[in-house]
Amino acid sequence: MHDLISEIEQFCLRNGISETRFGELAMNDKPFVSQLKSGRDLRGSTLRKLKKFMVSFEAKETLSASDVSTFPQGDLAFPHHGLLGIAHLQKHEILFILDQAQQWVELNRQSSKHSDLLSGHTVINAFFENSTRTLLSFEIAGKRLGADVVNMHAAQSSIKKGETLIDTAITLNAMRPDAIVIRHASSGATQLIADKVDCPVINAGDGQHEHPTQALLDALALRNALRKRGDKSQDFNGLRVTICGDILHSRVARSNILCLQALGAIVRVCAPPALMPSGIEALGAEPFFDFDKALQSTDVIMMLRLQNERMEGQFIPSAREYHYMYGLTESRLKEAAVDALIMHPGPMNRGVEIDSEVADMLDRSIITNQVEMGVAIRMACLDIVTRSFRKVDGWF
Ligand code: NCD
Repeated sequence: MHDLISEIEQFCLRNGISETRFGELAMNDKPFVSQLKSGRDLRGSTLRKLKKFMVSFEAKETLSASDVSTFPQGDLAFPHHGLLGIAHLQKHEILFILDQAQQWVELNRQSSKHSDLLSGHTVINAFFENSTRTLLSFEIAGKRLGADVVNMHAAQSSIKKGETLIDTAITLNAMRPDAIVIRHASSGATQLIADKVDCPVINAGDGQHEHPTQALLDALALRNALRKRGDKSQDFNGLRVTICGDILHSRVARSNILCLQALGAIVRVCAPPALMPSGIEALGAEPFFDFDKALQSTDVIMMLRLQNERMEGQFIPSAREYHYMYGLTESRLKEAAVDALIMHPGPMNRGVEIDSEVADMLDRSIITNQVEMGVAIRMACLDIVTRSFRKVDGWF
């Protein structure tokens, strides 16, 4: 046991990751390393998993930024059963999804947009929370890959009749889907369902926790916008991004902080004190309460709406005051880098967190591009997570 702990310490030192991060990546379990240090016994299978993780992590991390497109072969490129959060992903796995999505961007720009990749396979979109763009985007993604796509809305589901989430999961599983996409108002609900079903699960947003496909589509939209400006880098090394809005209730903020940082960006978050989660620094983001200061030399501004449906009580004095302090206006934009890009996951509240003049800026705003990239990213995710199931060569 002692040998294993010092091996883990050496491993973390060599790779510049904290032991908490090691626990998260290796076992998908934050307190794992401290439990280990307190002398908890390990099963042989856990030990093997840890060793395998360390070997494959180091093999993949040696890929330099210039040849990241040479990803590890087969399922080592993405050794996950589904996609529940960015927190579980390593940099090269994120880049793998972005690169895979690029082919679907091309297909989606043609007049005939059909692939037979998932023909004969069933995808269930189980949405327990309202959604327009995410549901539509997943539905279009599944259909463009030739899958049979079924949408389940909470309003029509047996949840309304008192069925528990676990029973719903067991029911969905019995219909033998090949992938389930879930959106739910409770953080952790997607994990709960993923534990009960056989097929891969994709998290389409769970409470205030994560929204991984949003962060991935944001990264793809951003990378393509930077490439258009001549920046050919694979990642966002040194790029300064400010995320402003209701950080406290936002799963988009959380997934984006993790994703952008994994790709090398320097992330600032800005919100009124009541809407800033305590301990946000632990995620590596620098908190600001003054939007003008947060914008100084920022290359990318990501605006978020106020998530009123998640607020219990009064978090801000009024929408007018919020706009005055935290709204992105044309004059405030001058605080940022001259050509700073503007992003928003939608839905936008024009005149509250963002003014129309800014949201619609042709050369700076990539908001509609984010929506476009959403379909491509979801096609890539549906393809990748079903590969083992579909017995694609090398994916077992
Ligand atoms: C986001 C969400 O649902 O978390 N929207 C989205 O997926 N496009 C952000 C939001 O609702 O504000």
